[in-house]
Amino acid sequence: MDKVAKVNPEELQKEALAAIAAAETLESLDAVRVQYLGRSSELKLALREVRDRETGMALNAVREALENAVDARQSELERAELDRTIREDKVDVTMPGRRRARGHLHLVTQVRREVEDTFREMGYEVVDGREVETAHYLFDALNMAPNHVTRSPVHSFYVGPDTLLRTETSPSQIHTMEVREPPVFMVSLGRCYRRDTPDATHYPIFHQVEGLAVAPGITLADLKGTLRTLLRQLFGADREAKFVTHFFPFTEPSVEVLVSCFQCDGAGCPMCRHSGWIEIGGSGMVDPNVLRFVGYDPEKVSGFAFGWGLERMAILRHGLPDIRDLWANDLRFLEQF
Ligand code: DAH
Repeated sequence: MDKVAKVNPEELQKEALAAIAAAETLESLDAVRVQYLGRSSELKLALREVRDRETGMALNAVREALENAVDARQSELERAELDRTIREDKVDVTMPGRRRARGHLHLVTQVRREVEDTFREMGYEVVDGREVETAHYLFDALNMAPNHVTRSPVHSFYVGPDTLLRTETSPSQIHTMEVREPPVFMVSLGRCYRRDTPDATHYPIFHQVEGLAVAPGITLADLKGTLRTLLRQLFGADREAKFVTHFFPFTEPSVEVLVSCFQCDGAGCPMCRHSGWIEIGGSGMVDPNVLRFVGYDPEKVSGFAFGWGLERMAILRHGLPDIRDLWANDLRFLEQF
């Protein structure tokens, strides 16, 4: 009762209104509200103790006035807050945007696409191959002897008794000829796998482009002309190339293609083992046994084939010292191409 007696509605109202008006933030306004209108505020306690109508009306009038003042102040502060955000957080659409780092194709992919384009322009079809092959397609169909070294698990990655990761793209020749009648003009590009210890010129995964042209009357001259077109595309007109005899089980005759060394321009250096030449890949006239194997008649059609390494092309073109750089994913290296 003592406490209630002390409450002077007018004074309380004046004091509270001043506090409400002085609140500069929503948080401090809320503190003021708790202080003057909260459950244990002077006003609420007094209201609970009210015994006469007059005091009740006076205190309720104060309560109402304060509640209205808090609401009004709250709207004011909220509007001010909104104004401030609009003013300060506005987006300046004339500011330059944040530039996104944009990647580019890996060097090997660039070479791959360039080779594909070169052959498409010559009318070749680009076909997919299989990275997992059977011994049948990888060896038997390609006229390889039963004791050929790459049949050994020491050299190749087997995933089953007769199934292995392809060591070359050549089986794509067989798959293509099995489903097409001549003439066939195709290239097939993709990954190959060999159990090689990585060093400057070897990596267990690498890419090849396989090419095959079969039609009546195809000769070694077609092979040379076609491969020279690719060489010019890759290295320009100035780089020398030579064709030398070789052996592959699936071609007869077989031809190895060499390019003049990028390091010494043919004079001889450690890069080319002092020969002046670096091998780029194999090729040859398709062996009649291979044609017969897929049901083609070697009396009616002939063809040439080739298989070249894409990493080799990249290395020869840019003078790269180490093939492993192409696989290390070091941006400082990759961004240069
Ligand atoms: N497959 C051979 C290799 O990986 C490359 C090759 C040589 C492919 C002669 C051919 C070819 O198509 O005719 O070493």
